[in-house]
Amino acid sequence: MAGAVPKSRRVSSIFRPGLFKDKVAIVTGGGTGIGKAITQELLHLGCKVMIASRNLERLEQAAEEMRSGIPQDSPAQIEHVECNIRKEQQVKTLISSTLAKFGKLDYLVNNGGGQFPGPAASFSLKGWNAVIETNLTGTFLCCREAYNQWMADHGGVILNIIADMWKGFPSMSHTGAARAGVDNLTKSLALEWAANGVRVNSVAPGSSIYSETAAANYGDMKIFEGAIPYIPAKRLGKTEEVSAAVCFLLSPAAAYISGETLKVDGAASLYRSLLNIPEHNKIPAFSWDIDETDPTKSKL
Ligand code: ADE
Repeated sequence: MAGAVPKSRRVSSIFRPGLFKDKVAIVTGGGTGIGKAITQELLHLGCKVMIASRNLERLEQAAEEMRSGIPQDSPAQIEHVECNIRKEQQVKTLISSTLAKFGKLDYLVNNGGGQFPGPAASFSLKGWNAVIETNLTGTFLCCREAYNQWMADHGGVILNIIADMWKGFPSMSHTGAARAGVDNLTKSLALEWAANGVRVNSVAPGSSIYSETAAANYGDMKIFEGAIPYIPAKRLGKTEEVSAAVCFLLSPAAAYISGETLKVDGAASLYRSLLNIPEHNKIPAFSWDIDETDPTKSKL
């Protein structure tokens, strides 16, 4: 890649230095946004990390940038592999090439995903399927391959990044459905794979986690402006606040936690919906007194 490598942000961590020394992680979507913060903190803590995504050029540049931030005496390493998580063979290769490069796999962070906004009624089948395949099926494929190729015999920790879809996800119904599916998959896999020493958890960031990637992706929607009234914490969230939760759940501090989803959203999911529903009378009450000549009108 020609051109200067952007200077890496100074990275810090609340966790002890060397916490993930001798550990190997895969982070899908590890070159941008929340995934990049997770990768940076894992590296900072001594982990060897394979980042994967579809966009090879951006991935390569991110890997180079993060590599330049690793101190010479650190055991941390970063490699990258192009992988479309919707393609079964590419997922198989992601896992096998990580094993070939680093010799083991301790952690799988399923962060890669994508969606586009719009009313559900306008979604084509192709668009709907693409979002389900990326966010739900892609996550399943990564889990299955990590388990079959390594974790079934050696244990490990899987961490799925989902979303704040707890009150539905209007304008993002496809990804809401997919992420709710991953929340449930987390529980099934935690049970099915417990006897193999595999823990499976999720982190659900709020939509208010600010990253340049999210701001660029949803620029026209101005998703961060005007968000504060809907967040009890009264501020946007930081990618490193998600990363801290991920590192905790990967670490031995969470050895007794599996099948769980941890929300990192400033309590927004407990609070007000962003959706404005206009005044209407399209949902009349059901009553024994309903006028049968006009089912929209109650006699009361
Ligand atoms: N990020 C967004 N979509 C992806 C995909 N299909 N594969 C990997 N990373 C992605």
